[in-house]
Amino acid sequence: MSRGTAIDLCYLVAAIGFIIALKGLSSPRHARAGNLLAAAGMALAIGATFARSGLAHIWLIVVAMVIGVAIGVPAARLVKMTAMPQMVAAFNGVGGGAAAVISITEFIGSDAKLVATYKVLEVVFGVLVGAVSFSGSAIAFLKLQELMATRPITYPGQQQINAVVGLGILGIVLTILVTSSTALLWVLLGLALALGVIFVLPIGGADVPVLISLLNSFTGLAVAASGFTLDSNVLVVAGTLVGASGMLLTRMMSVAMGRSLPNILFSAFGAVVTATGGEAGDANRAVRTGTPEDVGTLLAYSRKVVIVPGYGLAVAQAQHTAKELADALMEKGVDVFYAIHPVAGRMPGHMNVLLAEANVPYEELKEMDEANPEMPTADVALVVGANDTVNPAARSTPGSPIYGMPIIDADQAENIVFLKRSMRPGFAGIDNDLLYDPKTTMLFGDAKDTLQKLVAAVKKA
Ligand code: TAP
Repeated sequence: MSRGTAIDLCYLVAAIGFIIALKGLSSPRHARAGNLLAAAGMALAIGATFARSGLAHIWLIVVAMVIGVAIGVPAARLVKMTAMPQMVAAFNGVGGGAAAVISITEFIGSDAKLVATYKVLEVVFGVLVGAVSFSGSAIAFLKLQELMATRPITYPGQQQINAVVGLGILGIVLTILVTSSTALLWVLLGLALALGVIFVLPIGGADVPVLISLLNSFTGLAVAASGFTLDSNVLVVAGTLVGASGMLLTRMMSVAMGRSLPNILFSAFGAVVTATGGEAGDANRAVRTGTPEDVGTLLAYSRKVVIVPGYGLAVAQAQHTAKELADALMEKGVDVFYAIHPVAGRMPGHMNVLLAEANVPYEELKEMDEANPEMPTADVALVVGANDTVNPAARSTPGSPIYGMPIIDADQAENIVFLKRSMRPGFAGIDNDLLYDPKTTMLFGDAKDTLQKLVAAVKKA
């Protein structure tokens, strides 16, 4: 077998590994194995690339890899679960930027006049999409890290500026296709970077994680384009997989939020967040508060308790204590499971990851569609740091920013207990009528603290 065939075979095995890995990532049980398989596939692809004949600047590549590893490994190990979206934004952005730079260097390195039009198109696509992804991800990172305002940013003449940049890009792309001008490629890079910024500025609040998923998909497409430019099948396959899965994830997130993608991208949803965010509920409405002892007794004498986790569970890092409570209840013969909303928390699978970290068995996690039919038979819905994902306004209040979002039917349980620190709203910044429901008991405090008290109360009951 020739060296070239052996390398192509390695790439094929790596690509198959990526596909199987993606399948593994679709369930918590196989996600870790899927991740390892993808990493092994990537290691094989990198190793095979080093074996290619005529590879130049090997030491430069090695130095770049060492720098990447020195940054990537500690960042991935140290990142807090709540800061994961911004890390994805940062890593995704550099991926898009790399794809754009590769396309440019390949174009400059070739005799531009001789390059076929379809090759120029690949380069232009890689530069445009990669650069939008780079600058867009950088702004998304700054927003999520709260280094700039998280709300949608609008300014006078926004539409006109967008139109000028959009038309400018179109004109330059057409001119490059005709003239193969390298100088114009740099202008395209500048305009594409500007487009990434002005595209992301008006998107804010809860919509930023959806945006990151879309930018991730853009990076995949840019990488696939650079794969065509470099004649690298493995880059084409890997980039297409990232592009397609990012697009599917974006769609799933928008469906789970009950909104269309154009609505997320082009309407200033977050404006509602800033307009009403931080309200401390309606002071004139009565709420029923409880003590850990009351609630502990209620839980211990229940037949079925459904724990509904949300963003507050992640903030309080209360996943281990939630499991302790579930275990204590199960020891008393109570039927307990966790109802998982697809957009609970701040990133896809946030609750699954948290609860897996606390070794909660997968069988105890029920996705929303599976959990909801059981809610009317639950004695208690124990809502731990969740708010928007159980807010009945999503069903009943047209015009509400969350109207149309499917929710966990916590209101159908016989009793509802909320563990949160105050009457403040969740991410969408809107009041939740369920907090004032006569069936609801509020147990105020940090979720970890109140859960600890509940564990003690249940054990005593
Ligand atoms: P939220 O509606 O954001 O509510 C979280 C609640 O947790 C808050 O009301 C807060 O109330 C409470 N909390 C915060 N820290 C706490 C602590 N230490 N102890 C106890 N409670 C604490 O959460 P959710 O129900 O998970 O909904 C998620 C929201 O994010 C939805 O609007 C969703 O659309 C949006 N979103 C999610 C995603 C993904 S992919 N997950 C992506 C984009 C947008 P207090 O301040 O009173 O404690």
